[in-house]
Amino acid sequence: MHLSGESGYKKKTMRQIKVGIINVSGYAGVELARLIHQHEYAELCWVTGRSMAGRKVGDMFPHLFDIKLAIDAEPGDADVVFSALPHKASAEVVLPLVRRGIRTIDISADFRLKNSEEYTKWYGVTHLCPELLQEAVYGLPELHRAQIKSAHLVANPGCYPTSAILALAPAVKEGIIQPDIIVDSKSGVSGAGRSLSVATHYSEENESVSAYALAGHRHLPEIVQELETQSGGSSLSVTFIPHLVPMTRGILSTCYASLVDGRVKDGKTMAEQVRQVYSDFYREEPFVRVVDASPKTKYTWGSNFCLVYPTVDDRTRRLVVVSCIDNLVKGAAGQAIQNMNLMFGFPEDTGLNSLPIFP
Ligand SMILES: NC(=O)c1ccc[n+]([C@@H]2O[C@H](COP(=O)([O-])OP(=O)(O)OC[C@H]3O[C@@H](n4cnc5c(N)ncnc54)[C@H](OP(=O)(O)O)[C@@H]3O)[C@@H](O)[C@H]2O)c1
Repeated sequence: MHLSGESGYKKKTMRQIKVGIINVSGYAGVELARLIHQHEYAELCWVTGRSMAGRKVGDMFPHLFDIKLAIDAEPGDADVVFSALPHKASAEVVLPLVRRGIRTIDISADFRLKNSEEYTKWYGVTHLCPELLQEAVYGLPELHRAQIKSAHLVANPGCYPTSAILALAPAVKEGIIQPDIIVDSKSGVSGAGRSLSVATHYSEENESVSAYALAGHRHLPEIVQELETQSGGSSLSVTFIPHLVPMTRGILSTCYASLVDGRVKDGKTMAEQVRQVYSDFYREEPFVRVVDASPKTKYTWGSNFCLVYPTVDDRTRRLVVVSCIDNLVKGAAGQAIQNMNLMFGFPEDTGLNSLPIFP
């Protein structure tokens, strides 16, 4: 290890790609900066941030004391650019980059849905460049690894969808559950971003848990789109209810669906059979672990891992799957770097193999 110029301590390698981050000022953007700074094959060349332009990253975010880069107002050149802007604003910035041929990973929701009418329905705006929706690859490596490798535009999945889709994809793909699914998710407050709001005010959120978006959350169409692809196109009925809980990071999803008669046999081994389906599905995955006991969000804190615990409620013949992730890592910045690693042919876990922090 030795000093690499202005960026502080970092191992130098022969091959480093140049990386830019749009909107370092939010939680997803600053988490990207932290992870890219530790990446062996990537050099952080520029970052943008509307209200922070002209200041240094390490001054605005003192935990990144080694990153001396000044924050710019406009994007520069790079081999790959991450956009961590809110939806709509992101598409406006991403479009010219894609037209310039720069490989781009968008952390917003702007390129996740294949159907532009669905986008308008859920996000309330007309899509700026619907022609890019088919070209964009949904960046969940466990489902789309081959397409991500050659993608020019990757739509990084939402945090809730990452936990829900990984919890349900094996059961849907193997046809062991009926098409009526419930996803009950809990998120830490960083999932709502850094902007101030009454809903996330400490004195209103602390020591309190609430369900929200009961009429339909924006992440629902994304969950349905991806699970229906796994089901071979047959339609699914999904109820998704998010909850806000008083913790900083983490998402825990508990998913329920009735088993299809005859696919999983009666007896003590129903849970074991389901577990086998999940273990087979995720056997080669670097960041999904099928675990033996119901996990806690704390077991993924600060890491790119997703823990999945499938079991069966014998009395109701219902599949119950609990999954958890760190919303800012596997649910945002870490997954984006996993996608970058695939796009540039780096080992998939480069810069991401640190274990969760506990307690
Ligand atoms: N938080 C998560 O867990 C998570 C997970 C997955 C995906 N995402 C996605 O990642 C993106 C960023 O989310 P976040 O949670 O990091 O948000 P955030 O912490 O709330 O950051 C958003 C910041 O972006 C800046 N901003 C807002 N509108 C802008 C515009 N039109 N142009 C330039 N800057 C603008 C604002 O900063 P200034 O006012 O200081 O300029 C705002 O504070 C969103 O699309 C979100 O859906 C977030």
